[in-house]
Amino acid sequence: MKAIVVTDQAAGTAGMKLVKRPEPQAAINDVIVQVHASGFVPTELAWPSTWTDRLDRDRTPSIPGHELAGVVTALGYGTTGLSVGQRVFGLADWYRDGTLAEYVAMEARNLAPLPGDVDFTVGASLPISGLTAWQGLLQHGRLQAGHSVLVHGAAGAVGSMVTQLAREFGAYVIGTGRAADRQTALDFGAKEFVDLDNDALEDVGGVDLVFDVIGGDIGKRSAGLIRAGGTLVSIVGPAEARPADGLAVDFVVEPDRAQLSEIVQRVRDGRLRTNIGDVSTLDDAVAALNPTERRKGKTIIRVRP
Ligand SMILES: NC(=O)c1ccc[n+]([C@@H]2O[C@H](COP(=O)([O-])OP(=O)(O)OC[C@H]3O[C@@H](n4cnc5c(N)ncnc54)[C@H](OP(=O)(O)O)[C@@H]3O)[C@@H](O)[C@H]2O)c1
Repeated sequence: MKAIVVTDQAAGTAGMKLVKRPEPQAAINDVIVQVHASGFVPTELAWPSTWTDRLDRDRTPSIPGHELAGVVTALGYGTTGLSVGQRVFGLADWYRDGTLAEYVAMEARNLAPLPGDVDFTVGASLPISGLTAWQGLLQHGRLQAGHSVLVHGAAGAVGSMVTQLAREFGAYVIGTGRAADRQTALDFGAKEFVDLDNDALEDVGGVDLVFDVIGGDIGKRSAGLIRAGGTLVSIVGPAEARPADGLAVDFVVEPDRAQLSEIVQRVRDGRLRTNIGDVSTLDDAVAALNPTERRKGKTIIRVRP
C-alpha cells in the first residue's frame, strides 16, 4: 500500500516521504480500515509516540496521522461491534502506525459508525478536534449553562469546536487568537474576541473556564483570570500556573464511540460546523502538510479520491 512515513525527528514534516509499505494485519479486537480520508495534527511529529513504542523502542519508519474516516475491510480475531463494509470514523492509537496510508489496523472500540450522509472528508476532520473539545469542556471543565469560557485559538481546529460546543451548552464564549482570526472566531459563535498580539488578555476579567490550546505565557496569564471554583483546562501539557482557587487539568484526548456519535449527529443536524482548510490527495500529502502559507483550518488528506 501507499503510505507517508517519517524517520527523522529533527526534519519534522519536511522529512515525510511517500513510500510503499506492506498492508497491516489485524490483531485481536482490531479492524482493518481502508482509509478514505485522514486528518493530521501539525504538532504530531513532536509527540514521543510518533517515534517510540510503549516500551520506548524506536518504531521508525512510522506512519503518522491519527484521525480517519473509511470502510472496514477485515476483522481481527474476536472483534465485535463493527462489520466488513461498514463506514467508520475514529481515533487511531498514538503508538501504532497511523492513518496517512491506504489501510490501517486499529482497535474497533476506537471507531464509531459514520452515517451515510456524512462525507469521509468531514468524518476525518472530527475525531481529535471534536473529542478534545467534548472531553475538555464536559468532563474535565465541568461546563455548566451560564458559565463564561475563554477559548484560546478559537479559530483553530480544536478551538472552533470548543467555541461551538460551549455555546450549545449555554456558555458565554470569549475567543482569542491572531488579529486575522477575529471574524472566524465570531462566526463560530464567540461573543467577544481578544487579539493576543495587540489586546490585553487581562482586560477579559473573570471567567469560569479557560480552554488553553496555546500554553506558555498565555496559559500562565490565563490562570489569574479564573474565578473561584473555576477550571483551567490545558491540552498542551501541565499549566505553568494554577488558578488561586480552582482546578488546573491537562489531558490527552481518548477515543470514545458514544462521544463520536454525539459529535457526528451535531454535524448532521447543523449544530456543529467543521473547520476544514486544504484537502489534498495522498500523492500530494507531503506538500500539503508542508504549507508555504499560514494554514486556515484543518488539512485533510483524501486518501481515496
Ligand atoms: N492534548 C490533546 O489531547 C490534544 C488534542 C488536540 C490538539 N492538541 C494540541 O493543541 C494544540 C492546538 O491544536 P489545533 O489542532 O487546534 O491547532 P490549530 O488548528 O493550529 O489551532 C491553534 C490556533 O491557535 C492559534 N495560536 C497559537 N499560538 C498563538 C499565539 N501565541 N497567539 C495567538 N494565536 C495563537 C493558532 O494560530 P497560528 O496558526 O497563527 O499560530 C491557531 O489559530 C496543538 O499544540 C496540538 O498538539 C492536544
